[in-house]
Amino acid sequence: MTKPAPTLPLQRVAVGDCLDLMANWPEGSVDLIFADPPYNIGYKYDQYEDSQDDNAYIAWTEKWVRACARLLKPTGSFYLLIGDEYAAETRLMFKALERERKLVFRNWIIWHYTFGQNCKIKFNRSHAHLFYAVGPGAFGKINVQDPPFVFNRLDVAVPSARQTTYNDQRANPTGKLPDDTWYLRPQSAEGDYFRPGEDTWYHSRLCGTFKERQGWHPCQLPESLLERIIKLSSNPGQVVFDPFTGSGTTLAVAGRLGRQWVGTEMSEEYAAKAQERVLHAQETGTAKTTTYAQKGITRGQPKKKAEPRRSPKLSPVE
Ligand SMILES: C[S@@+](CC[C@H](N)C(=O)[O-])C[C@H]1O[C@@H](n2cnc3c(N)ncnc32)[C@H](O)[C@@H]1O
Repeated sequence: MTKPAPTLPLQRVAVGDCLDLMANWPEGSVDLIFADPPYNIGYKYDQYEDSQDDNAYIAWTEKWVRACARLLKPTGSFYLLIGDEYAAETRLMFKALERERKLVFRNWIIWHYTFGQNCKIKFNRSHAHLFYAVGPGAFGKINVQDPPFVFNRLDVAVPSARQTTYNDQRANPTGKLPDDTWYLRPQSAEGDYFRPGEDTWYHSRLCGTFKERQGWHPCQLPESLLERIIKLSSNPGQVVFDPFTGSGTTLAVAGRLGRQWVGTEMSEEYAAKAQERVLHAQETGTAKTTTYAQKGITRGQPKKKAEPRRSPKLSPVE
């Protein structure tokens, strides 16, 4: 008997090791991949041990980056978020994949966030690295009028200084593309997502007290970061994949923006909670929010930690 052709388990967070799961999925089946792996800095996850030997971590990273490249459609887009510790090594992996004509590198974006952890005798870290590449269909075919990958410029364009400051008649009336340093302002209202008509972004790194923070995962990303990526690099109905689902941020945004979605997550507990969050977003078109009471936070008692703790030994606070 012939084996049935592999298919993606769409609208699901599949539980297990992303490498094992991806190996059974069809090549060239995903339109957009967003990956936010563990950074090997000692975070406390439910299942994963986040302090591996350097070489083991780098070798593992290369394996899953290659597995993602295999899943990507030739017209797809791939974003990878990483900390300072392994940004250089990871960038070299993209170089190798470009040499092998499997990906075309587009941008090294800096996400500048505030509300990072305060350090005592060094500068506070306030950025992460976001690598953006597209599938091999783009080799030799980059065409501004008709790009060989999804690039919804109007969904992310911002007003230019020519428009806002100089009243310059030559200004493009549809604005300009954002710079490759992305800044999300913490001081603005919660609950407002990125507005295409404005050049500021309305979320910092998510603090424990923020309504958007689910309170059960140690490193949930802000939905606004994913909103920019998903709007720019996918169309409604296309497939968005996150190999490290975590609290489900990528898939929740994909769901409420009418994309199909699929994720992998090693922790059964995170996967179940993420699935619930994503379905809520998909069904209501809104983000799932939480109250202080649900997170066990009491006003005026900031030292009482309700959330899972990061490793004290490897904490970036020094
Ligand atoms: C940095 S977190 C992702 C956070 C996510 N972006 C969010 O906004 O919630 C990384 C996640 O990857 C999961 N993970 C680690 N190794 C994995 C593996 N081999 N396969 C699948 N998931 C894994 C961890 O359990 C953790 O939840």
